Amino acid sequence: EWTMENFIDIEVEKIREQVKGRKVLCALSGGVDSSVVAVLLHKAIGDQLTCIFVDHGLLRKNEAEDVMTMFSEGFNMNVLKIDAKDRFLGKLKGVSDPEQKRKIIGNEFIYVFEDESNKLKDIAFLAQGTLYTDIIESGTKTAQTIKSHHNVGGLPERMEFDLIEPLNTLFKDEVRKLGEELGIPKHIVWRQPFPGPGLAIRVLGEITEQKLEIVRESDAILREEIKNNNLNRDVWQYFTVLPGVQSVGVMGDQRTYDHTIAIRAVTSVDGMTSDWARIPFDVLEQISTRMVNEVSHINRVVYDITSKPPSTIEWE
Ligand code: XMP
Repeated sequence: EWTMENFIDIEVEKIREQVKGRKVLCALSGGVDSSVVAVLLHKAIGDQLTCIFVDHGLLRKNEAEDVMTMFSEGFNMNVLKIDAKDRFLGKLKGVSDPEQKRKIIGNEFIYVFEDESNKLKDIAFLAQGTLYTDIIESGTKTAQTIKSHHNVGGLPERMEFDLIEPLNTLFKDEVRKLGEELGIPKHIVWRQPFPGPGLAIRVLGEITEQKLEIVRESDAILREEIKNNNLNRDVWQYFTVLPGVQSVGVMGDQRTYDHTIAIRAVTSVDGMTSDWARIPFDVLEQISTRMVNEVSHINRVVYDITSKPPSTIEWE
């Protein structure tokens, strides 16, 4: 009989058999797939596993700290946190084209990962969170991709390690079950999708630290309010976007000329199509009030009410 417990036992045995006494490297992003792979590998081979977590400076508020606390302290795993913010922001300076941004971030991720893995000795394997659907999709990729999706996916081609892909027979919902079985906290296992290029594609056009800060702070408020109002399960993905538009406002008796922030919240099954989420008006009002009061340089909040198609979920 096939159960998740059996699956774990069988995979742990397989991994031990394959790895023996050697060392394994894993790129940890904090997303569901890489988290599950890392914890499964750690269960199988303990300290023979080293994880590299690249902080590209484009993560959400407190995300890097949360990942480190959970894996390094909670699970007691070897995790190297690489602070590569300056490297990424340096490369992105002056760049405003969305696809160019994705390309730069995808490539830089590989360079940083290579640099760091070269410093480690005797690594024999690279563990990856490839899912069954990833394999099918790459086999049927059409010539016309609307947005290139840069994840950790480009790594294996450039590296000499043998691959370990324990999730490559599973679908996403099975990976979540596996994650729960392995004791990964629910908020990680059920977390909303977050794109590899991170907040870089939510600051439209050129990225500056100040703009990143506005997106990061407003996103934190949105997430908090969605959580406090128990809307997590109803809304598939939710975030804020900084269009880079400034407009006139009034605060106290002062005229302001500041940024507009857009809220994007959608319902969806797989991200291929989506509808805008019917967040209650009073919750939207609370979110709007908090954003204007708590985040510097926001004087206007708008709600995106387009479905996909014709829009996409992200704005870039
Ligand atoms: P779109 O904007 O294409 O988004 O409707 C569909 C889903 O894909 C995510 N997305 C990305 N994920 N790298 C990723 O890893 C990317 O470059 C990227 N672009 C979009 C988006 O967040 C949504 O869940």
